[in-house]
Amino acid sequence: MNMTGKKIGIIERYQNFLPPVDPTCIISLNEGNTPLILAEALPKYLGLSGVKIYYKFEGLNPTGSFKDRGMTMAVSKAVEQKATSVICASTGNTSASAAAYASRCGLRCFVLIPEGKIAKGKLLQAYRYGAKVMMVKGNFDQALQLVKEVASAENIVLVNSVNPYRIEGQKTAAFEVVDDLGDAPDYHALPVGNAGNITAYWKGYTEYKKHGKSWMLPKMIGIQAAGAAPLVIGKPVENPETEATAIRIGNPASWKGAIAARDESGGLIDSVTDEEIRFAYRFIAEREGVFAEPASAAAVAGVMKLAKTGYFKEGSRVVITLTGSGLKDPDYALNFQDELTVVKIDARALSKIVSAKT
Ligand code: F0G
Repeated sequence: MNMTGKKIGIIERYQNFLPPVDPTCIISLNEGNTPLILAEALPKYLGLSGVKIYYKFEGLNPTGSFKDRGMTMAVSKAVEQKATSVICASTGNTSASAAAYASRCGLRCFVLIPEGKIAKGKLLQAYRYGAKVMMVKGNFDQALQLVKEVASAENIVLVNSVNPYRIEGQKTAAFEVVDDLGDAPDYHALPVGNAGNITAYWKGYTEYKKHGKSWMLPKMIGIQAAGAAPLVIGKPVENPETEATAIRIGNPASWKGAIAARDESGGLIDSVTDEEIRFAYRFIAEREGVFAEPASAAAVAGVMKLAKTGYFKEGSRVVITLTGSGLKDPDYALNFQDELTVVKIDARALSKIVSAKT
């Protein structure tokens, strides 16, 4: 809380742990401060009664994803530098976030997205926040290459996670986990695409420990989609494919950061199939009341997969970052052939349905 009693964003809350920002240049939508929700059904389902699992639900950020933490930093710094435009390549969430923060301060925003491979909610956000949206006939990796070239030549600020301020802002999610739990968890699982977020969390955990805010460090567990798992197979994937379009990335920009997070923490990077993602996606919505997008569900699927091998120690704490809201991707949400039940305006007909056992 600040003096007016209003909630504040991550730059003000964690200013002692972030690069300084001129207070007159802070562009914030009160991002961060997202809940750490205790999983009830998942540990039961996995037979892990002695393990506490939490969802760090980043879908509750202002534009519905974790990107807002990095974007408040990147856009505030762009304003401080007196930039006039920002640009990014995106699988969807970065573009939604960049567009929102740019709109708040009158910066022009250009976004490049892979044609036909972006969730509708994200696309409409970029449009409605007023960005100039461009579809590329190619994938995210090619779009990122393109914006990197243009940004350096045209003096437009690039707000992808290759911009170090993005990582700085995103590391605050690790701070919040420690603030809530009183220490770092034993394991932290999250989905990996361009690998900025796993890099950011690891930076956050290690810095907080150095400042004496925690005693321990978690093992970092990065989860990729099987058709887009360059870090698992050890080389770039030319044509990445997965239904979890947010992480449909074949050559992550923060490759080294992800490997360092894995190795320094003693964790791992693994992959899950689209089938496993579908199962986890439905499980957390239908059994836990938490609606996250498919890429987020990949991390849950990864925890399910590892739990079956006995990976998690009794008495340990596991945090799973749910990176984005389920509302982002209505087409995916509606593709499960759920039966549509039509009922007459007739109380007896309705009673029959609601009293049925299944
Ligand atoms: N989950 C969601 C919902 C995402 O949107 C992304 C990345 C990730 C996970 C992976 O995070 O790239 O830091 O490893 N989305 C980017 C975008 C690429 O353009 O919105 P990462």
